[in-house]
Amino acid sequence: MPPPNDSKPTFPPSPYPQPPAHLLRAYAGRFIVFEGPDGSGKSTQFRRLIDALARAGVPCTPVREPGGTVTGERIREVLLDRANTGMSLRCEMLLYMASRAELVEQVVLPALRSGHLVLADRFVASTLAYQGSAGGMAFADIAAVARVATRGLLPDLVVLFDIDADAAARRLNPLLDRMEAKGREFHRRVREGYLEQARTNPQRFAVINAARSPDEVWVDLLRVLDERAADLPPPHFA
Ligand code: TMP
Repeated sequence: MPPPNDSKPTFPPSPYPQPPAHLLRAYAGRFIVFEGPDGSGKSTQFRRLIDALARAGVPCTPVREPGGTVTGERIREVLLDRANTGMSLRCEMLLYMASRAELVEQVVLPALRSGHLVLADRFVASTLAYQGSAGGMAFADIAAVARVATRGLLPDLVVLFDIDADAAARRLNPLLDRMEAKGREFHRRVREGYLEQARTNPQRFAVINAARSPDEVWVDLLRVLDERAADLPPPHFA
């Protein structure tokens, strides 16, 4: 007889270590953000964590910025299109925030309300690093727009995958998008901007050295999740 349809999904053996399910369950209803310069390898770690959450049976909603909604994906095309090289900094910042407003409203808040862990590939720290520290826009202006776009939602944990601009550039596809093509000096300031945010906000940020192999970075990520699980604020919607 075939197995009943409600049987648990089965997974092939994982080629890298898996965190204990109880550790991942501690993050239910929380909002975790992965940040880092282009080429930091954060998206690989993002995929690994989504897979680990699925294996552990922890409900998770993964999102990426800019994009993640119908409107947001169209905004993403505009932002990354190299034809738009003349875009002003203010327009750029507002488009990232418009995409974020849509994502928070349509995806992030409903997912948190239903008790999911929301895992985001980039959030407000990206705007502060790219349009603020690297682009030159005042942090206070970005923060004011961010409050509107996010309805004041803050991440419970920001994991910063740190890598210097030269090492990161070596990892990028040579067909750079509009943001990746902004040059080494710009990307050096992005990194410094991220590190500055982590220094001034150590309880929310955890910094991982991302200039190593994906397996080494993964082990560090699991260590960070383990260390921070005890200090988490209550879920957003208890
Ligand atoms: P991705 O390559 O991680 O998908 O991100 C798209 C690009 O957009 C990346 O170069 C970082 C940049 N970016 C900003 O400049 N400001 C923002 O607020 C966000 C979310 C991304």
